[in-house]
Amino acid sequence: MAVKPVPGAVDAQAFYAGLDRFNVRPLWRQPGLLPDEPQSKASPHVWRYQELREQLLRAGAVIDAEEAERRVLMLVNPGLDGLAAATANLYAGLQLVLPGEVAPAHRHAASALRFVIEGSGAYTAVNGERQIMEPGDLVLTPNWAWHDHGNESDGPMIWLDGLDLPMINSLEANFFDRSSESSQELTRPDNASRHLYTGRLSPTWETWSEPYSPVFGYPWAETERALDDLAATGVGSATDGVLLEYINPRTGGPVLPTLGCRIQSLSPGRHTAAHRHTASAVYHVVRGRGASVVGGETLEWRQHDTFAVPGWAVHEHVNGSDDDVAVLFSFTDEPVLRALGYLREETAERQT
Ligand SMILES: [Fe+2]
Ligand SMILES: [Fe+2]
Repeated sequence: MAVKPVPGAVDAQAFYAGLDRFNVRPLWRQPGLLPDEPQSKASPHVWRYQELREQLLRAGAVIDAEEAERRVLMLVNPGLDGLAAATANLYAGLQLVLPGEVAPAHRHAASALRFVIEGSGAYTAVNGERQIMEPGDLVLTPNWAWHDHGNESDGPMIWLDGLDLPMINSLEANFFDRSSESSQELTRPDNASRHLYTGRLSPTWETWSEPYSPVFGYPWAETERALDDLAATGVGSATDGVLLEYINPRTGGPVLPTLGCRIQSLSPGRHTAAHRHTASAVYHVVRGRGASVVGGETLEWRQHDTFAVPGWAVHEHVNGSDDDVAVLFSFTDEPVLRALGYLREETAERQT
């Protein structure tokens, strides 16, 4: 027979105080577990290249690349309590490799991308192939692919690292493996994969079963040509101008299963329509100057600055020049949200 509880028969304070020892908590006293909408702890934030370049070069005098393994200044979002993350799901960092240095071979489950900021002629070796790096190139080091870097040029190389690290660590799915060799064995000519897949043509004899792009380098010259060709046509979206996705030529989808990469141009004086989406993004200014209004904050940016747009933050972009095009590279966790059915997007009122 059911026993009907008698209201007041149990001392509430003593009840709550006694629950901890059973490792349980009352759901009805747990705020924020089911928010009305996402409330990212990450802040809209811009990292200034001019300041950070100086710090990065100072790091070059403090430690060498071999000893550091990766000489990187991580971009730490001030809203995320010291977490090594630029947005809740995305890691970003600035890496320096000086002439003659080698950053030793390793692999990890987390996927990575590099976007070259400065320098010419250093390499990232990935899956037996060197990608020779030039400013504006995108280089992929996917999930569990061996990679190492070396700078045989006579100037410093600086690039932006982007990873899905916070996501993969929160899934507790990361692994790391260090090679006994500092540089991996090369099995294909330099830049081979980018020559195998050339836009609309695909090699018939190659097989590929990985969930990421078989192309490890997306050269700037090609990207720039595509942007220039489109800029003349006046096409583009209200919220993003000309926004192009780097694709996996095998699927037409994003280059990595967890990270999408984009390049975008904003025509002179352009102020985009505002919107928001559950996906977050890290932007890098390839060229130009302007501002993005993110979550009500105006982030002024100029060439080589990097800024964070947290998930569900309303944002709009402004090209601050009436004469020159502004070009933004970005990477995003959108592929994950889309694949799992959590991508939501809506237009919004402009904040300015
Ligand atoms: Fe790595
Ligand atoms: Fe957006």
